[in-house]
Amino acid sequence: MARKLLVTSALPYSNGPIHIGHLAGAYLPADIFVRYQRMAGNEVVFICGADEHGVPIIIAAQQQGVTPQQLVDKYYVLNRDTFARCNIIFDNFSRTSLPIHHKTAQEFFLALHKKKKLVEKTEQQLYCPKDRMFLADRYVLGTCRVCGNENARGDQCEKCGSWLEPLLLKDPRCAICGTKPVVAETKHWYLPMGQFQAKLEAWLAEKHEWKDNVMNYCKGWFTEGLKDRAITRDYDWGVPVPLPEARGKVLYVWFDAPIGYISSTKEWAARQGDAELWKEYWCNPDCEIIHFIGKDNIVFHAIFWPAMLMEVGGYNLPAQIPANEFLNIDGRKISTSQNYAVWVNEYVEKYPVDVLRYTLAANLPETKDADFSWKVLQACNNDELADVLGNFVNRTLTFVQRYFEGVIPPAGALSGADNAVLAEVEKLGHEAGELINMYRLRAALGKVMEVARVGNRYFDASQPWATRKTHPKKCGTTMHVCCQVIRSVAAFLQPFVPETSDRMWRMLGLAGTPGKVRWNKACKPGDIAGTKLGGVEILFKKLEDADIQPEIDRLQAVVSRMEAAAQAAERARIMESAPGGAGVKGDSGAAGDDAEGKTKGQISIEEFGAVDLRVAKVVAAERVPKANKLLKLTLAVGEETRQVVAGIAQYYEPTVLVGKLVVVVANLKPAMVRGIESQGMVLAVEDGQGLALLTVDRDVAPGSKVK
Ligand code: MF3
Ligand code: ZN
Repeated sequence: MARKLLVTSALPYSNGPIHIGHLAGAYLPADIFVRYQRMAGNEVVFICGADEHGVPIIIAAQQQGVTPQQLVDKYYVLNRDTFARCNIIFDNFSRTSLPIHHKTAQEFFLALHKKKKLVEKTEQQLYCPKDRMFLADRYVLGTCRVCGNENARGDQCEKCGSWLEPLLLKDPRCAICGTKPVVAETKHWYLPMGQFQAKLEAWLAEKHEWKDNVMNYCKGWFTEGLKDRAITRDYDWGVPVPLPEARGKVLYVWFDAPIGYISSTKEWAARQGDAELWKEYWCNPDCEIIHFIGKDNIVFHAIFWPAMLMEVGGYNLPAQIPANEFLNIDGRKISTSQNYAVWVNEYVEKYPVDVLRYTLAANLPETKDADFSWKVLQACNNDELADVLGNFVNRTLTFVQRYFEGVIPPAGALSGADNAVLAEVEKLGHEAGELINMYRLRAALGKVMEVARVGNRYFDASQPWATRKTHPKKCGTTMHVCCQVIRSVAAFLQPFVPETSDRMWRMLGLAGTPGKVRWNKACKPGDIAGTKLGGVEILFKKLEDADIQPEIDRLQAVVSRMEAAAQAAERARIMESAPGGAGVKGDSGAAGDDAEGKTKGQISIEEFGAVDLRVAKVVAAERVPKANKLLKLTLAVGEETRQVVAGIAQYYEPTVLVGKLVVVVANLKPAMVRGIESQGMVLAVEDGQGLALLTVDRDVAPGSKVK
């Protein structure tokens, strides 16, 4: 039975260009999945669009000195075209600023309102007196109570994933001007998520085949207990709240954006000439809705959105939410604001799209964060695409060109070895398809490339250059089988690298496009004997070091700048934190909860284990000239000697310290303090009486781990 699927990719904000992390998270995997499902004979509508409301848009417009409308017009076009350049082909790419979307979102709100599912509350909210506006979502930054991240946003902490409300932030500040907000009253409409929790939990409990990351996040939120969430905001950019008493208020972006999946489907249906067709996907239970997203969107798709759909009623709920983790670059988190990213629109101007698609597909952050680097891209291109795939195609086709007049020879009598290769191709093809069905695209690509490897081994073992003279028939058979392998692998590659797949198809001289071939037909040999080749080209040119060096240099320059800024900030922090001063933990810097004697939020044993604490012996200590708070300590940490600058000069004479055992954070990033590199931090406590260094209560070997 063919499946009916509505596949979506998270609607990208029209507030900037997309980078490779976006691509690897929600777009490329969805495109691979969709292309495969079509080849497998399933019916798919692939939906996306631009998310054009919300604080991310308002802030970006402010920063660029344009109106929100101008901003979204610019990035809608840029991102739409970038996707097309990457051969990520949506059936419809809509925008949430369109009337059809405003109407659909308002109807959703009114349906909930009529059903008395919403709660109206006048509540205290943060308000920036300077900017004269209420601060919600990303307009307010502060410290996350769960993980201590000082740059958590009002709606979510990006570090630990906690789903927040501005009033839950510690030390809130206005994201625009940094002012400490005041609280003021305003009326809003809320979704009482707590009331929906039991139903949501029961629904999710059945999702046995969902990914662990999604389920674990959800369990975490359920344990915490869902709270009322405001779905309206006091901004003037967004979908107006459709109630007379709500003048000047708009819908919360995370309320309206997912409805964008529906409005985009409506727009698609209208283009098909059947305005009601969208209901076949959203309301007919035989359709499966599959949302491809990045992990920062999990709560909104797995909890908030299903609750909206359930409470309005009559809609299908998501059947799958294949959420991906993050893609880092050279081990660092991508940062849009710091320009630490590879921008897709820039990439496609300089390098082949399929090389990026391949590299990302082979390194998708499916179960854990993954890493991109230009060296990996170069290796994917040179060692796999060029040396394995390109080489197999090239050696086969030039051989046919040269010795068979460019016509694929007939199969002839197949030997055991010939049959074994064809059977292996078929098996790998089925395995790849199964893996894609299970959202294991990375592994599926591995199987597909294995087909090319099988082809190369078979070519070598069959020695056509020798049989050409001794057994010309057998040589013809070998070439026929090799061309069969090319045909199969071309089709299998269609979901991953469609351009390359099409080129291989053309080079073989086959009609049509491999995207139209049924997957199980591609697994088996095709009717190719006697086909005249369509010409032989090199599939992938090698990427030389010089080709990618400018990209590496650019990222490195960004890293240097970020590190310098971080060091400057760290130094400022150290210097400010009197009286403990440099590098002493437990000093007055840790005010707030600590000062009140409360402990902080919980962390896992792994998180604790990330801190490398060691016992160290002070071998020398001296004052830092012109810094009355600082001592420079020379520490023996096992075999190693470290130099640490500590703000303890007002409490300890240098000489009494020599020989003492102290505790040092050994894996802290070095920082420059008064021109001296401090390679760690000694631990101390302070209690108002003064400061005391942490030590151990018997003589232990310096370097011993503290745990
Ligand atoms: N714009 C959001 C983001 O980039 C994603 C919105 S997905 C939708 O994180 F469901 F709301 F559409
Ligand atoms: Zn402000």
